[in-house]
Amino acid sequence: MLYGEKNKEKLRSMAFGYGNKKEGSVIPKYRLNEESIDPEAARALIENQLLDEGNSRLNMATFCQTYMEKQAVELMSETLSKNAIDKSEYPQTAELENRCVNILANLWNAPRHSDYLGTSTVGSSEACMLAGMAMKFRWRNQALRMGVNINKRKPNLIMSSAYQVCWEKFCVYWDIELRIVPVTKNCMTLDMDTVMDYVDEYTIGIAAIMGTTYTGEYDDIETLDRLVGEYNRTHPNLPELVIHVDGASGGMFVPFTEPDLLWDFRLENVVSISTSGHKYGLTYPGVGWVVWRDQKYLPEELIFKVSYLGGEMPTMAINFSRSASQIVGQYYNFLRFGRQGYSQIHLKTQEIATVISEWIQKTGMFELYNTGSRMPIVCYKLKEGARYEDGTEIVWNLYDLSDRLRMHGWQVPSYPLPDGAGEVTVQRVVCRADLTYNLAEAFMKDFWQCLMDLKDAHVLTNASKTGKYGFTH
Ligand SMILES: Cc1ncc(COP(=O)(O)O)c(C=O)c1O
Repeated sequence: MLYGEKNKEKLRSMAFGYGNKKEGSVIPKYRLNEESIDPEAARALIENQLLDEGNSRLNMATFCQTYMEKQAVELMSETLSKNAIDKSEYPQTAELENRCVNILANLWNAPRHSDYLGTSTVGSSEACMLAGMAMKFRWRNQALRMGVNINKRKPNLIMSSAYQVCWEKFCVYWDIELRIVPVTKNCMTLDMDTVMDYVDEYTIGIAAIMGTTYTGEYDDIETLDRLVGEYNRTHPNLPELVIHVDGASGGMFVPFTEPDLLWDFRLENVVSISTSGHKYGLTYPGVGWVVWRDQKYLPEELIFKVSYLGGEMPTMAINFSRSASQIVGQYYNFLRFGRQGYSQIHLKTQEIATVISEWIQKTGMFELYNTGSRMPIVCYKLKEGARYEDGTEIVWNLYDLSDRLRMHGWQVPSYPLPDGAGEVTVQRVVCRADLTYNLAEAFMKDFWQCLMDLKDAHVLTNASKTGKYGFTH
């Protein structure tokens, strides 16, 4: 950077605003200030710092919740100081968490008389880690009993290449081989024709996805369950093969929009399900959930006891202390919306996604990967040889369009599809509950304007860009 020494020093500090009694003096940004400052000044400086950040409501890249009701926000602010791990000091908060786990187990059709159990987490990543560890420990215990040489090879986990990065982390952190079933341009989900070719006696499980990060599609878990059932019947002397469902976005969406779809604990071999409460659970980040269909799928070694009302309570978590306010927010949503409310909200979001996708299709320039008729995700690529209506050639790419949309405040990521279809670049619009018809209309108007601006543009900047925008949520 071309800052002079004097300016460099200024840029490393913050100045107080006009009228403040410390006006003219500066405080450092990267060192602790010597003297304390008053709360209003501290707040103003931080508010100023955050001013030019994107508007979260216009962020079409994220699945994470960007709106909650005032009452929920107040309740969450009031409970920020409660520590979720301190079950003894906050037994009523622990009770709310317990209710949420039961609500989810019921929503996911856990067998009535099973010993299901679950926990809140910081998000799906932690929930996936816990589910993955449970699979690994259970596999090891069974493998040892069945005489599999566990030192000969690393255990492996199978999933499609459309996995979210948390699974790669899980495999690196816990020394597991991630066996990837590549997606193809025509099948962006777990390939049922080949998935079983990847299984062996070192497989800890198969992780299926309800709502992939890339296109929002669902793996065919009903078919997978049948294949896994057959495998277990024909391999009685090997560790039982199990399915974990990563329902980060679908887990709290599908039960309300497609209640008859078989993907959850109604399927015998689905042993655990995780989700992000902060996605279609409609709670601010970070809260996630994981539920096991029966205690036997969560080995004892992973359960720790914390004190609770003079007794003990089992917990499993990677973190220890964290605020309970998100759990309270999640329970507020369950209580406030109920089954009907969640259905209405999600069906409306789906309807808006469909309107946007139909509109995008009508431009004639794009080919849709997801029309938003299931998960409310609109995902598309540029049609090969697409032109404007008047025949003008399209010389821009989706990265240029993302940049243009950003000029209007909209964050709409473009990125390559995962291994197996990596040569295809797509763009994705994630619709959330706070995307009203009004806002959707504004989006389509701006989108149209961007298409027109690009038609006349002389300078395009992304001709060779292959980088990814923030699409991982
Ligand atoms: C399929 C899938 N799994 C896991 C995650 C991680 O979720 P979280 O951000 O709640 O940790 C995501 C996030 O987008 C996801 O889409």
